[in-house]
Amino acid sequence: MLPFAELHLHLEGTLEPDMVFELAERNRIALPWQDVDDLRSRYEYGCLQDFLDVYYANMAVLRTEADFAELTDAYLARAAASGVVRAEVFFDLQAHTARGVPAPVALAGVADALARSEADHGVSSGLIVTFLRHLPAADAERAYAEALTTGVDLLGIGLCSSEIGFPAMPFAPLYARARADGLHTVAHAGEEGGPEYVWEALETLGAERIDHGITALRDPSLVEHLVRNRIPLTVCPLSNVRLKAVPDLAAHPLPAMLDAGIVACVNSDDPAYFGGYLDANLAAVRRDLALSDDQLATLAANSIEASFLPASEKTRLKQAALVS
Ligand code: HPA
Ligand code: ZN
Repeated sequence: MLPFAELHLHLEGTLEPDMVFELAERNRIALPWQDVDDLRSRYEYGCLQDFLDVYYANMAVLRTEADFAELTDAYLARAAASGVVRAEVFFDLQAHTARGVPAPVALAGVADALARSEADHGVSSGLIVTFLRHLPAADAERAYAEALTTGVDLLGIGLCSSEIGFPAMPFAPLYARARADGLHTVAHAGEEGGPEYVWEALETLGAERIDHGITALRDPSLVEHLVRNRIPLTVCPLSNVRLKAVPDLAAHPLPAMLDAGIVACVNSDDPAYFGGYLDANLAAVRRDLALSDDQLATLAANSIEASFLPASEKTRLKQAALVS
């Protein structure tokens, strides 16, 4: 199996319907859904916001440190079975503190599972706290300061949630601060918004990686910039289909990205909501986009290059990919 890094994965997006109901019962939370089938019937989305509404509603069941640890551990086990050897996972801290879950509780659960990921699953890991761009930047700044006080080790920060109409500019001071604190920076951009959103994430936030970026190909000068600077795009094919960012998988720009020389890699985004984990995404692009073995190996190598692993570890993993 080729070794992959998964770099665009929201931990809350791995909350499977069965776990939603299990945790609701354990924590005595009333859900707006009758049963698992009723919940699954809500997994048809016209756009990003339709998905986000269900995604945030289901998070209500996550209350205790153990809940967050179980969620994280279940993802790591599933990711390892998909060939993931490195996971740099997103966590929407504000979505939990806004519901009254203390930051130290939520972060300790996630951090506890991540600390065991190498030993338990053979997956090295890092934590990226993602801030919600539909909320004021001052909220994000408060959440960041709170995250730091917990002492939990952070790999980086990111920006996600609703895109169109929510500029990245107000988050520029937060990104500057995180960079000064030695953290990596990524940002969702160009999922529903056009290439100007990708430019904004690069130029005002200084993001090192762009999450999604599928509209980048509409701007040749942006493509040239991404290629020249080897700025990776963390692409999520099944997510793009389910959120109608592309008409169908056969129309996905992934092959064009590879042909252009962009460091694109494949990820699962919110696998419990979009039809599968990394292995399902890879199988789907292989089938519907007729990707060759060489292109698949490029995707694996790109994912390792795009990770925030030390250079020596990237070299080791890329060599492992060549002999697998
Ligand atoms: N886009 C933006 N925000 C998100 C997503 C996404 O695909 N998944 C979870 N939060
Ligand atoms: Zn995402």
